[in-house]
Amino acid sequence: MKKAVIVGASSGIGKELAKILSDKGYTLGLVSRRKSLLEKLQEELPNKSLIRSLDITSMNSIEKLKRLIQEMDGVDLIIISAGCIYINQELDFEKEKKTIDLNVSAFTAVINTAYKYFSKRGKGHIVGISSIAALRGADDAPAYHASKAYVSNYMEGLRVKAEKENLSLKITDIKPGYVDTDMAVKDNQFWVASAETAASQIFRAIEKKKDHAYITKRWRLAAWLLKIIPGFLYKKIL
Ligand SMILES: NC(=O)c1ccc[n+]([C@@H]2O[C@H](COP(=O)([O-])OP(=O)(O)OC[C@H]3O[C@@H](n4cnc5c(N)ncnc54)[C@H](OP(=O)(O)O)[C@@H]3O)[C@@H](O)[C@H]2O)c1
Repeated sequence: MKKAVIVGASSGIGKELAKILSDKGYTLGLVSRRKSLLEKLQEELPNKSLIRSLDITSMNSIEKLKRLIQEMDGVDLIIISAGCIYINQELDFEKEKKTIDLNVSAFTAVINTAYKYFSKRGKGHIVGISSIAALRGADDAPAYHASKAYVSNYMEGLRVKAEKENLSLKITDIKPGYVDTDMAVKDNQFWVASAETAASQIFRAIEKKKDHAYITKRWRLAAWLLKIIPGFLYKKIL
């Protein structure tokens, strides 16, 4: 039987992935801060799950995450879905810092833990959720866009490291466009996917052990445009 930990499982994409993986027979470790939501999700899932109410921005959470993996007698897959966005035109540093603390520092602490765990075990699969926002900067949420570029490039670095170390370790970078979750900023959105659709496409990317996946698939086209569009034109569409 397969086992997975989902960090950021209480809502949105992480929660929907938990439902799919549990339906497919996975035993799950569900991690996030809101215990009541984790308990509710645990009741809904058809297969066994353990829950941990953890704030991954606090350093002692990493030890607790390691203990959860031990308690599960090992895992095959670690998904890092936890993330936040603040619209921050006024450049309030507290908001930028919260984004950096979670999307950069805590993400690094968790993915390092996952990498070292799988490196010792000899095999495994890490999935991180960056964003289409990783491709360019934006004035409304500068730290978010920069943090997602970090997430994406960090995973690429670890993918190369795993290959050089001859590890049987897959690292999948999921780049969603807009997904209808608590986090979604409601204005000016298009091609918005439900969290269920996003999770089902992410699950297929996990099964295929892809390096990258745009969610939904049509965002591959937007990504191509975003990469080639010159700065003066890009500014006009922001
Ligand atoms: N929705 C979109 O349009 C979109 C687009 C591109 C990328 N993404 C990315 O997709 C990922 C999932 O987001 P979502 O859309 O599913 O939003 P969401 O529903 O807000 O989910 C965020 C998850 O992260 C957890 N989390 C937040 N802070 C945490 C902390 N300090 N410690 C532990 N867990 C924490 C939340 O649980 P608690 O609050 O219970 O801790 C929640 O389970 C994020 O990385 C996001 O950047 C989303």
